[in-house]
Amino acid sequence: MTRAGTDRQPWTATVLTLFPEAFPGLLGSSLAGKGLERDLWRLETLDIRGFARDKHRSVDDTPFGGGAGMVMRPDVVGAAVEASAESPGPLVYLSPRGRTFDQAMAREFAEEPGLRLLCGRYEGIDERVLEASGAREVSIGDYVLSGGEVAAQVVLDAVVRLLPGVMGNEASGGDESFEGDLLEYPHYTRPAEWQGRSVPEVLLSGHHERVRQWRRARAEDITERRRPDLWHRYLERRRTGGNEEG
Ligand SMILES: C[S@@+](CC[C@H](N)C(=O)[O-])C[C@H]1O[C@@H](n2cnc3c(N)ncnc32)[C@H](O)[C@@H]1O
Repeated sequence: MTRAGTDRQPWTATVLTLFPEAFPGLLGSSLAGKGLERDLWRLETLDIRGFARDKHRSVDDTPFGGGAGMVMRPDVVGAAVEASAESPGPLVYLSPRGRTFDQAMAREFAEEPGLRLLCGRYEGIDERVLEASGAREVSIGDYVLSGGEVAAQVVLDAVVRLLPGVMGNEASGGDESFEGDLLEYPHYTRPAEWQGRSVPEVLLSGHHERVRQWRRARAEDITERRRPDLWHRYLERRRTGGNEEG
């Protein structure tokens, strides 16, 4: 059961960050932005610096044990995390050490009442805050960003488009990449002839079943060539009867 048709409050993102001005950023544009305006989802920010207590409002300090860079202080970040406790959803710490974000995780997050997204800076956050809060660590890929804000926006973009009403039907169908472990088939639009290249004949045929079969075959081709990891999962699923088609 999705969240559609319930009378709960809209799916709510609460972002804990040193850069609240970075939000909504791109999430304020396009259909996600319209969704925000229409209260289909909500976005709140908690400024971590607001929890600093010394006269310099410092949020970081040098690492015990030495080494380069600074670490976000547990007393400051811990207080921000506590202040977010009433906000809906699990606490996610954006971190290169986390489990890699994927479409299945996006769907799982869309089923929650919201998410609390903790954005690190510097070398990251004192480990004790992560232990004490039970934050789930999520990475957006095997590279190091300078802060969690861009990562939080990536996660939110992928989740928000799955919420009822935000994208109309576009994101709800089963055809998008990663649905059923396949990448998507190629798309074409008018003109039917462009720079000597024509659109595959079958797409002009008006024959829905042939179009469906052609798309499925192209999706399989592309997945097999580009993503052996997905392809093997797809074959396994088919072998055990987990695919609707095939
Ligand atoms: C410079 S990074 C810290 C990297 C950390 N010292 C390490 O090597 O794992 C600062 C912050 O950016 C965010 N970040 C960096 N790369 C990320 C990624 N791939 N996915 C999610 N968040 C990331 C995290 O919030 C992190 O605390």
